[in-house]
Amino acid sequence: MKRKVYIYKAYERFWHWTQAFLVLFLAFTGFEIHGSFEFFGFEHAVVYHNAAAVSFMILIVFTIFWHFSTGEWKQYVPTTKNIKAQVQYYLFGMFKNAPHPVHKTELSKLNPLQRIVYFLLKVVFIPLMVISGVLYMFYRYPHNGDIAGINMEGLSTVAALHTLGAFIMIAFVIVHLYLITTGTTVFTNLKAMLTGYEELEDEPKQTKQ
Ligand code: HEM
Repeated sequence: MKRKVYIYKAYERFWHWTQAFLVLFLAFTGFEIHGSFEFFGFEHAVVYHNAAAVSFMILIVFTIFWHFSTGEWKQYVPTTKNIKAQVQYYLFGMFKNAPHPVHKTELSKLNPLQRIVYFLLKVVFIPLMVISGVLYMFYRYPHNGDIAGINMEGLSTVAALHTLGAFIMIAFVIVHLYLITTGTTVFTNLKAMLTGYEELEDEPKQTKQ
């Protein structure tokens, strides 16, 4: 039987949508800084990119606190269990209306592929963007004075890592946008992240595994 479950709490939705907006805005202003196109003008793009980066870092601090104070961090511990079934589902099963291989519950709302990808985002790719971005920001800061905050040989490695990270973040957003449409209906997952509620199948009675 299906039951309406409160799956995404208020702070989680706030964090998710704020992060989505900030990452898109950082990608947009970042690629203008990179020279890919002209919209705000280079100098404004730098100011906006820095402001969004500071907001992103403040959001990250609060969100780390939220993950640990609620125990929600446990949702992101990677597992290899059912991973093959999940890959097969995305490649073949879902086009033949096969059932989802992993049962979604309040206590385990991420499938094994989501766990691995979100875990990598949290511990590898977002830290890469923050660390390379902060090095970029404070490189020989302030530029016109004598103080050398971070005095490295050059910025080329940092710039290359930051840009590579930006491409990975954009690839993630594209795949994420496609995969969120693969719920029960095209909008089920989007609606859940907006309202917090999703209709979930009751736990199967026998969980012999
Ligand atoms: C807290 C996180 C971040 C910080 C502190 C940060 C900081 C910076 C700084 C200081 C610059 C150089 C601006 C200048 O030339 O004066 C920059 C460039 C750039 N940023 Fe970020 N950024 C962050 C996150 C992001 C994210 C999430 C993306 C994309 C998804 C992104 C994409 C870019 C791109 C593409 C460039 C241009 C790189 C180049 O051509 O060398 N940044 N960032």
